[in-house]
Amino acid sequence: MSDFMTDIETLRRNARANIEKGPVTESYAADLPRVLDVLQQALATELVCVLRYRQHYHAATGMNSEPVAAEFLEHAQEEQDHADRIAERMGQLGGTPDFNPDTLTAKAHSEYRTADDLIDMVKEDLVAERIAIASYTEIINWLGDKDPTTRRLLEGILAVEEEHADDLLTLMETQLSS
Ligand SMILES: [Fe+2]
Ligand SMILES: [Fe+2]
Repeated sequence: MSDFMTDIETLRRNARANIEKGPVTESYAADLPRVLDVLQQALATELVCVLRYRQHYHAATGMNSEPVAAEFLEHAQEEQDHADRIAERMGQLGGTPDFNPDTLTAKAHSEYRTADDLIDMVKEDLVAERIAIASYTEIINWLGDKDPTTRRLLEGILAVEEEHADDLLTLMETQLSS
């Protein structure tokens, strides 16, 4: 038996105790209530982003609006996927994801902002993506190696937010130069 591992009898005994916790075992090293709190904030952020992108998709009009609207829609769908994956992880950790619209904007990191023209919509979305990138990076660093599954989930989402920000920067530059 290697010296970093719990002996086999203790592993078996611990696995039988608290069986109702499902995948959360004695080895779970993160601060669980705090992780659920942070995931709830991330869920609220994603849902606010879904609503903002969808509004921008429907509000985008005028010349050159079609490719931009298509990008808004694609981002809205990807943010929805992020929200669902975060909610699923909260459930695995014994939490209950909150989708109450009354509390979403207070819990979210990003803001729900609309705009009259296309370029301002793109700018607002880029700001929101940059907020998401910064907060996901902080959460990932805070988790460290204490909850590898949540960390991997958030790392995957972070990579998509970085793509979103890059897409928006390209759109902003193309719109400004047209
Ligand atoms: Fe997202
Ligand atoms: Fe995003």
